[in-house]
Amino acid sequence: MSEKKLHLKDVKKRFGGRTVVDIGDLTFGNYGIEGLIGPNGAGKTTLMSLITRKLKMDQGKVAFYPKGSKGSEVDITNKSLDEIARMGIVKTNQIIQDFESLTIKESLLLSLAPPGYEKFYRVFREDTLRKEAEEDISYYLDYFHFENPEGHALSAGEKKLLDIIRCLMLKPQFLLMDEPTAGLPEDMTKKVMELMKKKTKEEDISILIVEHDLDLIWEVSECVYFMAEGEILIQGTPDEIRAHRTVAAKYMGVDHV
Ligand SMILES: Nc1ncnc2c1ncn2[C@@H]1O[C@H](COP(=O)(O)OP(=O)(O)OP(=O)(O)O)[C@@H](O)[C@H]1O
Ligand SMILES: [Mg+2]
Repeated sequence: MSEKKLHLKDVKKRFGGRTVVDIGDLTFGNYGIEGLIGPNGAGKTTLMSLITRKLKMDQGKVAFYPKGSKGSEVDITNKSLDEIARMGIVKTNQIIQDFESLTIKESLLLSLAPPGYEKFYRVFREDTLRKEAEEDISYYLDYFHFENPEGHALSAGEKKLLDIIRCLMLKPQFLLMDEPTAGLPEDMTKKVMELMKKKTKEEDISILIVEHDLDLIWEVSECVYFMAEGEILIQGTPDEIRAHRTVAAKYMGVDHV
């Protein structure tokens, strides 16, 4: 049972008069890895963006219970994207960012900037911090067998991996992953998920994964949330969700009711 939790209460988001996220009472983070699934347009990305404050919610509250908080909440509803990242809540991007003008190493060092510029400058000034960051970078590039670690990220897959490495280098407590393995070859998908399992065990990171690859979700998640039309309709173990008639009818196109 993990100590870090995100609690959402009455969270609503509308786009042009249409409600796209509508959450009553929801707690993420009771397990190491949780999955969030649902059809296209269900509101999964929007929900994650509301948590990290990339998008502003119309109403509601998000509370974070950080590591060591012993159950006392921090209201993060009105905090900025940077403040939230600094508290350890970090999101990967569904859309790949363009790193082409930077080398792999430069883009990863730069990735330490957004949550706290002070740390970024310290990385360059202080040998120990720079050494630590460079060791992290070497570890990840080696782990994923980057073809040319001294050069530029070239393949779409490598760019996607860079985004995941970027997030991990920020040492998150809570990692929100939006379709982290879409477009990755199968062996890389496996490596990403093995790394995530290791992180939850060894570094006590909580991870919420949005994925359309349901086999992956069933395999890695301890708890799965099913979202449709802005609402979390069901939550349960992978077996419960896989067997649920609403999920089958609304998402898998199966009508066995
Ligand atoms: N910036 C925006 N302006 C207007 N409507 C938006 C905006 N972003 C998302 N939407 C709409 O909100 C709804 C939820 O979109 P969202 O991207 O959160 O879905 P999703 O569950 O992540 O879908 P997918 O599985 O395709 O990634 C969709 O109907 C989408 O068209
Ligand atoms: Mg999405």
